[in-house]
Amino acid sequence: MTEPRIVAAQPDASERHLEESLRPRRLAEYIGQDRVKESLAIAIRAAQDRGEPLDHLLFYGPPGLGKTTLAGIIAAEMGVNLRITSGPAIERPGDLVSILTNLRPGDVLFIDEIHRLNRLVEEVLYPAMEDFAVDLVIGKGPTARSVRLSLPRFTLVGATTRLALLTSPLRDRFGATFRLDFYDLPALQAIVIRAARILQVPITPEGAEEIARRGRGTPRIAIRLLKRVRDYAQVLADGTITAALAREALDRLAVDELGLDDIDRLILRTIVEKFDGGPVGIQTIAAATSEEADTIETVYEPYLIQLGFLQRTPRGRVATRRAYEHLGLRYPEDRLAVRQMTLERLIEPDAT
Ligand code: ADE
Repeated sequence: MTEPRIVAAQPDASERHLEESLRPRRLAEYIGQDRVKESLAIAIRAAQDRGEPLDHLLFYGPPGLGKTTLAGIIAAEMGVNLRITSGPAIERPGDLVSILTNLRPGDVLFIDEIHRLNRLVEEVLYPAMEDFAVDLVIGKGPTARSVRLSLPRFTLVGATTRLALLTSPLRDRFGATFRLDFYDLPALQAIVIRAARILQVPITPEGAEEIARRGRGTPRIAIRLLKRVRDYAQVLADGTITAALAREALDRLAVDELGLDDIDRLILRTIVEKFDGGPVGIQTIAAATSEEADTIETVYEPYLIQLGFLQRTPRGRVATRRAYEHLGLRYPEDRLAVRQMTLERLIEPDAT
């Protein structure tokens, strides 16, 4: 795919600094994820009262839901510095040692995509997290000796979209793990209204709702749609984003009323039309749609599953009645009994 997807959950390069200006900086400004927010508020308060750094924390969930934002908020609330890096950026153990030895007491170290740390680097992290120390090997061969260097007490905030790929020794070293969920419509609507206020874009509550509805439960996507709709409002109307204008703009951008784009619909149509609704293997879907299996699995599927359009079974993916209805296709009732029996045998209780 050459053109960036308007509903991609990953940020594109040009968005990073704008995202920065829209990010909430304090917990009180953060909308949604109420359970996570409440637990964090208590943990922060307790650590402050004890005069200690916060425990190491792990956030997981789909991209674009605010993992980096929360790390920034934690640092701000604790009144310490935030150092941001990512699993793939830390190539050698020495890179991590240099980051760790430059932290100041209490600092928050944020490692995004922490499941992508390589094993040697990960081994440096264990004593750093547990004992606030790194073991350096000095010299080579028979004269080599190990020297323990102590580090300031710091808080590691890890983030991952793939919790299952984390090794258990790493997972065990976090004091708490939080799952971020897709945002519900009122929360996403409030986020759109807040972003519009900061961007000084006039918007009606209904206009914000229309954008939020197509934002796939993801603030990053909703804010990107807001920016695109703002252009339409300026060029085609008087600059105010109303529901009708938002609808027209998003229809032109081929983002449907649930936020699905052409590729999401292609995946669903492929399963329904070429493979009788499934079950069909991920590799087969990939070949039939010319997308990578891994991309389908990590980028497209989570939201389709969240909508209840797709089910993952050990024998492959199955399109649901809702998917047929959304595509405007008739669900084959005659196959329902057979399908139900098959599904009962196939669905893993915890297959997401
Ligand atoms: N901007 C992006 N995500 C947000 C959130 N959760 N709360 C407030 N503003 C946001």
